[in-house]
Amino acid sequence: MKFFVDTADVKEIRELNELGLLDGVTTNPSLILKSGGSIVEVTKEICDIVAGPVSAEVVATEFKQMMAEAEYLAKIADNICIKVPLTLDGLKACKTIRTEMNRMVNVTLCFSPNQALLAAKAGASFISPFVGRLDDISSDGMDVIAEIKQIYDNYDFDTEILVASVRTVNHVKQAALIGADVVTAPPATLRALVSHPLTDKGLAAFLADWAKTGQKIG
Ligand code: E4P
Repeated sequence: MKFFVDTADVKEIRELNELGLLDGVTTNPSLILKSGGSIVEVTKEICDIVAGPVSAEVVATEFKQMMAEAEYLAKIADNICIKVPLTLDGLKACKTIRTEMNRMVNVTLCFSPNQALLAAKAGASFISPFVGRLDDISSDGMDVIAEIKQIYDNYDFDTEILVASVRTVNHVKQAALIGADVVTAPPATLRALVSHPLTDKGLAAFLADWAKTGQKIG
């Protein structure tokens, strides 16, 4: 399973990348706003740090303008993955970007298996179902992931399931159990994956006993 980080915070991305945890990055207009920087400068900086796909989202809602924005964003770096919304114009842009620009496309704002089916038929590289936002309205985000997985397996679609709007470490575990290809999670959630109280307790006990030996390694 690949780990993407869902942020435009360059400092966080650099630190997680140095830990060897990152396979890619997802951004969106709200995350760019939060970063306080310009989309071109921030995205370029991220692409210089991470070798894997870096999703940059178009904000146009009409096909022609989406394509113009996709061309512009694609010039930032070779590892830019163009992110388009799950609308009819977005699907048309997805197909065109894949066939005419030969670029990765992440179809975002997916909330149903049928939407994911359409994205796969449009040749999407990634589909981003938002599990947290589904849970927020008392739906079950992980049920949607499981159904998309079954549909993609039924037809051998190449589109990778990128579980988005991840809020908890349990979302990550459930996504892995279902066999999703990628999770994109906020930095704090990725860091929280390492935590276990018995690891902390065990390490403290080992270090205390080691101190009593009076030995040094090396
Ligand atoms: C995915 O690409 C989105 O940027 C993101 O996961 C949305 O998460 P949110 O629902 O926490 O805003």
